[in-house]
This record gives sequence, structure tokens and C-alpha cells, in this order.
Amino acid sequence: MPDMDNFKEAAAFGVGTPQTTVGYPLKGCASLDWGVKNRLARIFDPADGRTLMLACDHGFIMGPTGGVERIDLSIVPLLQYADCVMCTRGVLRALIPPTDTTPVCLRSDAGTSVVTELNDNVVIDPEDAIRLNAAAMAVMVAVGDSRFEAKTIANLYHTVDIGARYGIPVMGVTAVGKQMTRDARYFRLATRICAENGANVVKTYYTEGFETVVACCPVPIVIAGGKKIPERDALELAYKAINDGAAGVDMGRNVFQSEHPAAMIQAVSAVIHKNLKPDEAYQMYQDLAAAK
Ligand code: 5RP
Repeated sequence: MPDMDNFKEAAAFGVGTPQTTVGYPLKGCASLDWGVKNRLARIFDPADGRTLMLACDHGFIMGPTGGVERIDLSIVPLLQYADCVMCTRGVLRALIPPTDTTPVCLRSDAGTSVVTELNDNVVIDPEDAIRLNAAAMAVMVAVGDSRFEAKTIANLYHTVDIGARYGIPVMGVTAVGKQMTRDARYFRLATRICAENGANVVKTYYTEGFETVVACCPVPIVIAGGKKIPERDALELAYKAINDGAAGVDMGRNVFQSEHPAAMIQAVSAVIHKNLKPDEAYQMYQDLAAAK
């Protein structure tokens, strides 16, 4: 029981001052429960509704690809610049210091590798996401893949069910089958299917006509960076995506495979949060790289 001595009588009732109802800035997320919103607010900066997620989950299908051979050496020093880190539970437990407070988007499906069939994944026990204090769970969805479409959509809605139960948002990750054309028509289909099945965020790829993809997806979209391209081009990619309505990036290789990853992630962040144009951001990248 609180100590009742010197009890201060209630008087600050604020009569006449209506209770504030703060709106929720993220697209399509106003009706979500408090825990989901709170976790999303850790990932998407409430000031601008945008995020720079650093993806380093590549090893779960690709093994130690370039840049993630030693996550302790290459990724951990970059976390200070990221709004969120997307990784697997194995990497999280083994290599990310629990003292680091960067929100985690946990890669929550597994089951295949680049040397066999991609997308034949199952979801991990979502209780582990709770144990790991995940801010979000990410699962892959292979729209248009005749073998794995139904299974991966089932993975998504199962994860959404569990996420809703425990207040953890879910990011649907559009995996594009080799036979699919990577155009706006396909990405409108894939992102919308993720959202309709309950994804709170969708990760997809930038393409010509991206503004139509964003417009008809009712929840925030973040883009993957894709394979490594020159830094100036990657900054332009991020800029175009933001300009066309993306809520951020979930970028991996174009950060950690850069010649200067710390400079690159800061430049990408400036595009996202400070609206830097590609040339300005590239100049920033060069300046930071030179100052190193
Ligand atoms: C694909 C993923 C990867 O983590 C992500 O796409 C990699 O990011 P990038 O393409 O920027 O290296 O979610 O399933």
C-alpha cells in the first residue's frame, strides 16, 4: 500500500481542459492496439513516420555473404545509426549485445537456403519473438509462386494472429519468384495481398510506378535495397522511394557492402529523415568517408 501520511488531496482535475486524443501518424495503423502502435513507434520515428531499418538477416538463407561474415564487427557498430535492425534470432542471441536498445524486427520464418528451394518456409514459435522483446516480426510471402504462395500466405496470417494476440506488429516481405515480372502491377498485387492478410508493414522493392504501389497499399511500405549498386545510385533509390511515398527502407547490402558502411548508413538516414536529395546525400557520404 502507498504510504497514506501527508496524503495530497486530488485537485488537478483539469476541468474545462478536454483530454487530448493524440492521433497516430502511421498510415492505416490508427485502429491498432496500444502495444502494436507502441512497437511501431519504436521503429518508425513518430516525428516523421519514417524508418531506416538495417537488414542483416541474409545469412538465414545465404550463409555468410559479403558484409555479414562477422556481424559483431560489421553490423553492431552501425546500429547507432539505424532505427531498427532486422535479423534472425540466432544472430540476435549470439551477436547483438542485449544492452543495445535498437528495436528488433525479427526474421520469423525459416526453412530453406539458396542452394535448395526458397520460400518453403515455416514460421518460428512466436513465443520466441516475445522472449526476445521483438518490436516486429517479419515473414516472407511469395505471391505468384505456384508452389509456395498458399504456404507463405498462411505463414503470414498465422504470424498476424499471434502478433495481434501479443501486440507485436508483423511485416510482410514480398519475395519475388524468378518467373514474376518485377513491375508495379506485380508489386501492387503482392503488397496489397500482404496488407489484406493483416501485415502492419510491407517490405517490397522499388519499381517504376512505385507511387501507385504505395497509394493502394493501406499500410506503410519500406523498400529493400536489393543487390549492391554504386552508393550514389542506392541513395537515389532511397530518395525516389521516399519521394513516391515509402515510409522508409529496410536496407542491407547497399549499406554493409559499401566501402564505407558507417558513412553510407548516415547518408541514407539523412535522405529518409532530413529529406536530403541524392546529390546532397552522396556529398555527405563522401565527406563522412573522407573524414574517417
Ligand atoms: C529478403 C529480405 C532481406 O533481408 C532483404 O531483402 C535484404 O535487404 P537488401 O536487399 O537491402 O540487401 O528481407 O527476404
